[in-house]
Amino acid sequence: VRYDEAAYGDAYADSYDDLQGPLNRDQAVAFIRQLVRPGSRVFELGIGTGRVALPLAAAGLEVFGCDISAEMIGVLKSKTGTLPVQAYVGDMSAGPQVEGSLDLAYSVFGTLACVVDQARQAATIAAVAAKLAPGGYFLAESELPDLASFSNCQKVEVGHLDQQRVMISCHTLDLPAQLISSQHVVVDNGQVRTIPILFRYIWPAELDLMCHAAGLELVGRWSDFRRSPITPADRGQVALYRKPGGSSEREVEVSGRSK
Ligand SMILES: C[S@@+](CC[C@H](N)C(=O)[O-])C[C@H]1O[C@@H](n2cnc3c(N)ncnc32)[C@H](O)[C@@H]1O
Repeated sequence: VRYDEAAYGDAYADSYDDLQGPLNRDQAVAFIRQLVRPGSRVFELGIGTGRVALPLAAAGLEVFGCDISAEMIGVLKSKTGTLPVQAYVGDMSAGPQVEGSLDLAYSVFGTLACVVDQARQAATIAAVAAKLAPGGYFLAESELPDLASFSNCQKVEVGHLDQQRVMISCHTLDLPAQLISSQHVVVDNGQVRTIPILFRYIWPAELDLMCHAAGLELVGRWSDFRRSPITPADRGQVALYRKPGGSSEREVEVSGRSK
């Protein structure tokens, strides 16, 4: 069966906010707000239900985004109200379909890995880079999967758990393809449903190479949005890249470590 990238969002949209919770949302929002001024134009790849986009818009940024899942965009639009968020149904590997240039583009919560082949991941970054204004940023938060936690290329873990619901995630690993195929099994009041997802995870060096090929420079890589130094044991990365040019003011803003 060919994997449909919209399947995850379509199956998950109605309970996504509830089951995922805010996660690193506030830290992500604070990190992005340090990089750009109110009124700046930012684009989210795989915007989902607006977990990060809506607080950014509330903080005065002009937020654009796309998502391949019409269901996810539907949930986002039901919450947008008068906030400046413009989102459309579309594949991120086609690049941001917006007029004019962007000050920042971002992929959080491992979303770039939802594009499941290397060539399209590289095309996504190249298209983003082409849309950035000189000095504009590309931010990618992603998982660095713990391959040692797989046994015979399989793993089962418990996600959300309360007295009414449990989410059990079953994963298989295809090491040469860098693919993790998962089914999140949600049991809610005795009702069972499955949410499929395929991830092509990207190692830091590979992400650097894709960004380098797109003409972006690495600003920094951390283990989280607080700019904690990354260590060999870390299972996540926050990587920030910049398109050359633009004013030097931005470099001052990015150099400060957040509390
Ligand atoms: C892990 S969720 C993250 C959503 C949101 N960025 C957040 O942080 O809450 C990944 C999102 O990417 C979307 N997605 C998957 N493949 C995509 C593609 N090729 N183009 C655009 N969006 C995609 C999914 O529908 C889903 O909403």
